[in-house]
Amino acid sequence: MKPFGSLRTHGAGTLRPSDDGTDVVLAGWVARRRDHGGVAFLDLRDASGSVQVVADAGEGEADEVLAAAHGVRSEWVVSVRGRVRTRPEGMANPALATGEVEVAASELEVLSVAQTPPFPIEGRVEADEHLRLAHRYLDLRRPGVGEAIRTRARITSVMREVMERNGFLDVETPMLTRSTPEGARDFLVPSRLQRGEFYALPQSPQLFKQLLMVAGLERYYQIVRCFRDEDLRADRQPEFTQLDIEASFITAEDLYGLVEELIVELWSEVLDVELSAPFARMTYAEAMARYGTDAPDCRFDLRLVDLGEVFRGTEVGIFRGALDAGGSVVGWRLPGGGELTRKQFDDWVEFAKRRGAKGLAWGVVEAGEGGGAPTLRSPLAKFMADDEVTALLAATGAGVGDALFFGAGPTRSTQQLMGALRVAAAKAHGFVPEDRWAFTWVLEAPLVEWNDDEGRWDPVHHPFTSPTEDSLATLEQAPGAALAQAYDLVLNGTELGGGSIRIHRRDVQERVFALLGIGEAEAREKFGFLLDGLSYGAPPHGGIAFGLDRIAMLMAGAGSLRDVIAFPKTQSGQDPLTGAPAAVDDAQLREVGLRRLPPS
Ligand code: AMO
Repeated sequence: MKPFGSLRTHGAGTLRPSDDGTDVVLAGWVARRRDHGGVAFLDLRDASGSVQVVADAGEGEADEVLAAAHGVRSEWVVSVRGRVRTRPEGMANPALATGEVEVAASELEVLSVAQTPPFPIEGRVEADEHLRLAHRYLDLRRPGVGEAIRTRARITSVMREVMERNGFLDVETPMLTRSTPEGARDFLVPSRLQRGEFYALPQSPQLFKQLLMVAGLERYYQIVRCFRDEDLRADRQPEFTQLDIEASFITAEDLYGLVEELIVELWSEVLDVELSAPFARMTYAEAMARYGTDAPDCRFDLRLVDLGEVFRGTEVGIFRGALDAGGSVVGWRLPGGGELTRKQFDDWVEFAKRRGAKGLAWGVVEAGEGGGAPTLRSPLAKFMADDEVTALLAATGAGVGDALFFGAGPTRSTQQLMGALRVAAAKAHGFVPEDRWAFTWVLEAPLVEWNDDEGRWDPVHHPFTSPTEDSLATLEQAPGAALAQAYDLVLNGTELGGGSIRIHRRDVQERVFALLGIGEAEAREKFGFLLDGLSYGAPPHGGIAFGLDRIAMLMAGAGSLRDVIAFPKTQSGQDPLTGAPAAVDDAQLREVGLRRLPPS
């Protein structure tokens, strides 16, 4: 394909043996230069790839080109006029798409010189991340890094195609707005015109997309920036992008179908991987009981097992205590874990303690003496009756040579601990296939969960999620048992997206606000515009939002969201390139009615 722009005729990476004899003008960066006496080789790189340029010694002009080639340095920008020729026998480079050809240069012009980069652009040398981000324009020049950004662009393009084919309308919603509660802190923007007042950057377009349904637009989507001031991790950025979707007169099933069409097409178009739909589904309760998390990694089986029945009459103190207090005993089998050293077991105990557990018990299944029933080698074994051991092995499927881990305590935290152990230990011991795409819908999450610190019910998703029909009847009597019409899509242990059927009746929305301890005055003050909207004929509606950065990260095989965002923030929320966030001067603060506090 001819490159855009009239400064060159061809993309460096596009030349092939069929171009033999063609006169070309190329322009790009000098990736490498090698001098061999009377010959200089330049690898010339542009966005399409790279090609070898040769400057040979010769008469007059040729010597000038050779002298110019000797003078250039890595990362200089040059323009080359020359003729494509097939490389001599035995000189082809199969690792390069253009490896069978080279360009014999007849002119070489330096368009721009470059300082020596602070880290190598070619090769896979891992430079310090802060340094890379401070010079992100150089980092993005590195082949793998730039590739991830291209993959991301391909993803957004397929997303738009699928959404538009299904009749969804791209509508923009405000960035300067009021708080949209998604469970994080808001980024605030002071107002100059309304001194002392603040906009909030949207945590999501949730309320606007619902109002678009009230407005009768019926099918909305947006690829939209969202802002959340929360503690950052590899899969969290303070500003990130959602594919945000909402539709009217739908059921959850309609959305599953749309989403599966989208995901299947993405994987096929971008990765050439054919997924099979419909995706697996499990309830939230199942996810917690079997995987100890609402974002289960289903690439491997090895599930958690509830051992409450097995240890109903147990004399093992820590199990007895947990069960008597209404908690759980949860077990997990590591196949072949009998091979682990004492130190390795101790490391897993430490792992549990770092996560706030009092401890972690373990045992190894050994062959019974004289061909008898297998036994458990464990510090706890002397407190276990023989029939308990038999029942334990049956319940966990553990056989000779396997290790068993046990967590005991309050149900939720024990499940979560064992869920974290399941993933970490399975990864460490090679049970997680890296080449599998395990999509799972997690359905029927609770509507609310008790926040012990604040002494109130918090929404598990957000306050606009509809309870199931059955739960609505007993909402106030049994809030903890209420289920939400909510769904998350999980891939390989990462939550890609989540959504719900919404509350479309004002009276139900008011009941949910009341349950969450949001009084009438507060509801009016914060969400009056939504409640008003709901009182003017709101259609039944629902939607979902995907973390686009997370999808791109997993599809690009990247380890962090930072790898698929052109200009990301570090773990501490800073941008080493621009130096944001940065101080502002007093005059600017005065304008927006703010005064600096003395440093604490
Ligand atoms: P939720 O809060 O689950 O739902 O967000 C949807 C998806 O956005 C991604 N995500 C993030 N990605 C990167 N960095 C972050 N800090 C971050 N936070 C969230 C996740 C998540 O699954 N309004 C609802 C959606 C709806 O109900 O339609 C919402 O925002 O992949």
